[in-house]
Amino acid sequence: MQLTHRPVISATGLFTPSESISNDELVASFNAYVDQHNERNAAAIEAGDVEALSHSSVEFIEKASGIKARHVMSKEPVLNPDTMSPRWQERTNDELSMMAEIGLIAAKQTLKRAGRDASDVDAVLCAASNMERPYPAMAIEIQQALGIDGFGFDMNVACSSATFGIQTAADYVRAGNAKSVLVVSPEITSGHLNWRDRDSHFIFGDVATAVLVEDAAIAPAQHWDILSTKLKTVFSNNIRNNFGFLNRAAPENAEGADKLFVQEGRKVFKEVVPMVAQMIIDEAEKLQMDPTTLRRLWLHQANAGMNRLIAQRVLGHEANDDESPTVLDTYGNTSSAGSIIAFHLNSDDLSGGDTGLICSFGAGYSAGTVFVRKVA
Ligand code: COA
Repeated sequence: MQLTHRPVISATGLFTPSESISNDELVASFNAYVDQHNERNAAAIEAGDVEALSHSSVEFIEKASGIKARHVMSKEPVLNPDTMSPRWQERTNDELSMMAEIGLIAAKQTLKRAGRDASDVDAVLCAASNMERPYPAMAIEIQQALGIDGFGFDMNVACSSATFGIQTAADYVRAGNAKSVLVVSPEITSGHLNWRDRDSHFIFGDVATAVLVEDAAIAPAQHWDILSTKLKTVFSNNIRNNFGFLNRAAPENAEGADKLFVQEGRKVFKEVVPMVAQMIIDEAEKLQMDPTTLRRLWLHQANAGMNRLIAQRVLGHEANDDESPTVLDTYGNTSSAGSIIAFHLNSDDLSGGDTGLICSFGAGYSAGTVFVRKVA
């Protein structure tokens, strides 16, 4: 008789940096930078050689995105008009790297919540939108720090990294290649955000999440069955970051704005909303499930307006906070970690048998759906 392996989510974990920046603080610093720039370049602006910069506004940010604050790993240099980017001491090879450090905190919390000993975990995937270095993999460093005898590797699918990581972990379990897999998403997005760009300076925040995907046979009594996972990618330049090892040789470009996050926000909004809503509806149909009966949607946290539209198309009515919770107000967009934070903070109250959806979308374009049902 062939044994079947059923992947479930045993637990999740969350690391939140202690420092946070409010919209008021962010806008005050940005506007000070703008005033400085305009003063220093007054003559060139007058002559038409340099463009004058415009102030940012708290009202715009809240209305356009729903974001009210974001956590960061390095607050003062981000707010300092002379630096406008995070700064940290470079670590030696003997020190734990930053992404591993925060990923480890989320991972340990996850293992504790699952009642799982690290020695019983087979694999670690570090799934995030940027890696601190090409190799050795962040995942292997986390694996080593946890004392896991198995394997680990990094994967990057931008904002969809975590859901792609969950499907990858679930596939290892389904195939019998692993019984317990940690998907860790340390997102230090402040390092790739252009804090001098008015159109996007308010978007991102730092955080780390972890998800433990396991074979139902060994999972704790309280867990989430994974009913289905579905991934989709469609190439687009509308969210792009050109930073990479091949442009290191061109120092004149090293500080260039295209080596940070850039996007055509309007186009992203228009193109991604219908794609994701349809993907969810199609997957529900495959599961012979009426999507309007989904108890809760834990959507990618990029923009409140996008989530409102997607939830409305899926549920057939305007979703309330209980049906589609947001963490945008306090965390901002945390890339791949966003839907996992929403799930982590807003799932304990659901009852056994309740069905919900974790869903991500972002650069690539990339999108992932994970339908889950609470057990016990
Ligand atoms: N403060 C004040 N005004 C601002 C501003 C700021 N910080 N940034 C832009 N504006 C102005 C623009 O100059 C523009 O003015 P104009 O109409 O006079 O030209 C106006 O606001 C609208 O700009 P626009 O960029 O079209 O805003 P938007 O309503 O589309 O909102 C985003 C911008 C980025 C919040 C929104 O498009 C979005 O969230 N898109 C989804 C993409 C996403 O989430 N990507 C994340 C990666 S997954």
